[in-house]
Amino acid sequence: MAAGPMAAAQYDLIIRGGIAVLPWGEEATDIGVRQGRIAAFGVPGSAEAETVLDARGLHVLPGLIDAHVHLREPGADHVETIATGTRAAALGGLVAVFDMPNTKPAITDAERLAWKRDYIQGRAFVDMGLYVGATKSNVAALAGLEVEPGVCGIKVFAGSSTGDLLVEDDASLEAVMRNGFRRIAYHSEDEYRLQARAPMFKEGDPHIRHMEWRDVETAFLGTRRLMALARKTGRRAHILHVSTAEELAYLRDFRDLATVEVLVNHLTQWAPEVYERLEGFGVMNPPIRDRRHYEACWAAVRDGTVDVVGSDHAPHAAELKRLPWPRCPAGLTGVQTIVPVMLDHVSAGRLSLPRLADLMCAGPARVYGVVGKGRLAAGYDADFTLVDMKRRRIITHDWIASPCGWTPFDGMAVTGWPVMTVLRGRLIMREDELIGEPAGELVRFGDTLMRAADA
Ligand code: DOR
Ligand code: ZN
Repeated sequence: MAAGPMAAAQYDLIIRGGIAVLPWGEEATDIGVRQGRIAAFGVPGSAEAETVLDARGLHVLPGLIDAHVHLREPGADHVETIATGTRAAALGGLVAVFDMPNTKPAITDAERLAWKRDYIQGRAFVDMGLYVGATKSNVAALAGLEVEPGVCGIKVFAGSSTGDLLVEDDASLEAVMRNGFRRIAYHSEDEYRLQARAPMFKEGDPHIRHMEWRDVETAFLGTRRLMALARKTGRRAHILHVSTAEELAYLRDFRDLATVEVLVNHLTQWAPEVYERLEGFGVMNPPIRDRRHYEACWAAVRDGTVDVVGSDHAPHAAELKRLPWPRCPAGLTGVQTIVPVMLDHVSAGRLSLPRLADLMCAGPARVYGVVGKGRLAAGYDADFTLVDMKRRRIITHDWIASPCGWTPFDGMAVTGWPVMTVLRGRLIMREDELIGEPAGELVRFGDTLMRAADA
C-alpha cells in the first residue's frame, strides 16, 4: 500500500519522485530526511525541504554496503588507502564498507585498532566497519576486541592467503571460537591440503592451475572442519566467499549457526574463460571456478542460502599481477564495480532489486548486527543508493579511483548505474562527482553499543 501524505513539516532533504525499495516492496514515494535520519515517507510532492533531490526515473535503494573489502592501510598505500578506497566506494554507490585486517601490520590488538579508528576520521568518504584479525597469540584478547566500537567482527584466515594471518589447526580454531560470542567471519580453505598439494605445481604453470591447486575439496574440507567446530562450540559463523556447489548445499544444514557470503566475482566470471582472458588479473582466493559452481552460486542467491554479496575488493599492483603464476598475488579490485555489476545482473533478470537490497544492506546488517542501517524505515540512517536502471555504460580501467588503477571488469557493458549516493542525509556522490569532505563514521553494531553503554 502506498504511503499517505507526508506531514507538511520542514525537512532537511526530500528524495522526490523515485521508486523506493522498501523492506516490504517497491513503492512510488517521497522520502523526508531530518538530522541525517529517515523521518517520513509520503505521496510525491506534499512537503517542503531545504534540499530536494529529483529522483524521477530512479530507484531509491537503502544505502548499499560492501561488507568485505581490503583497503590496505597501513602498509600498501601505493595500491589503496582508506581515502582512495572509500572514495571508490562512494563513486560506486556504496554508503559503507567493512575493512579487513590483513594489513601490514595486521589489525590484531587494541592499539592498532585504536590507530585505525582514529585514522579514518576525516579520511573516509563512507562509513566503515572494522574487522579484527585472529592470531594464535591474541586468542585471549578477542572477546574484548570484538566489542570495541566500530568492530563488525573477528576475521579468521583458516587457510593462508594475502598477509600473515593464519589460524589453521583445530585446537587453535576451537580456542578462537570459545573466546567471545559474536559471529566470526572465516576464510575457509584447508591449509593442510593447500600445503600438501603445492608441490604438484610449478612456477609458470598456466593461471588456471590456481583453481586446480585451491580445488573444490580444499574449500569444502575447510568448511566441514569449521562447521564441526562451530557445532561443537555453539559459536556462530559467517563463511566468506563460498565458491563451491558442495559447500552451498552443505551449509543449508547449518542455518542455525552459519550465514553465507558469495562474491560478485563468483557470480560474474567462470573458468576456463576468466583465466584465458585475464591471466593473473583473474587470480583470487578462493578461485573463480567452472560453470557448475557459477550456476550453484546463482541458485543459492535465488533460494535464499546466500545472506550477503560482497566484492572482496583486494587491490594489488598491476606489475605484480603480471608475474607468472603462482608469484602473482591473489585478489581482485571490486569496491567501485560491485553495484554496477550487480545492477547489470538485475537487468539480466538474475535477481530483483529488493533481493539486491537484501544481499547488500539488510543481509550485512543481519549478519553483523548493524544498528540504524539495513533498511529504508523511519528512524534509520538516511543512507540511499539512487540507481538509474536504464543507464548503459561500459566499465573501464580509467574510471577506477584506486591507485592500482585496474578492474577485472574492464570492457564490461552494464545496464543499470548508481547515479547518487546519500550518506546520513548528505549527498556525497552525484554522476561521478564526489561532493563534500570525507565524513565517514564508524558503523554502529548492537553488541558494541551494549558495552559502550555499560562503560
Ligand atoms: O584473493 C584474495 N585476496 N583472497 C583473500 O583471502 C585475501 C585477499 C587479499 O587481501 O589480497
Ligand atoms: Zn577478502
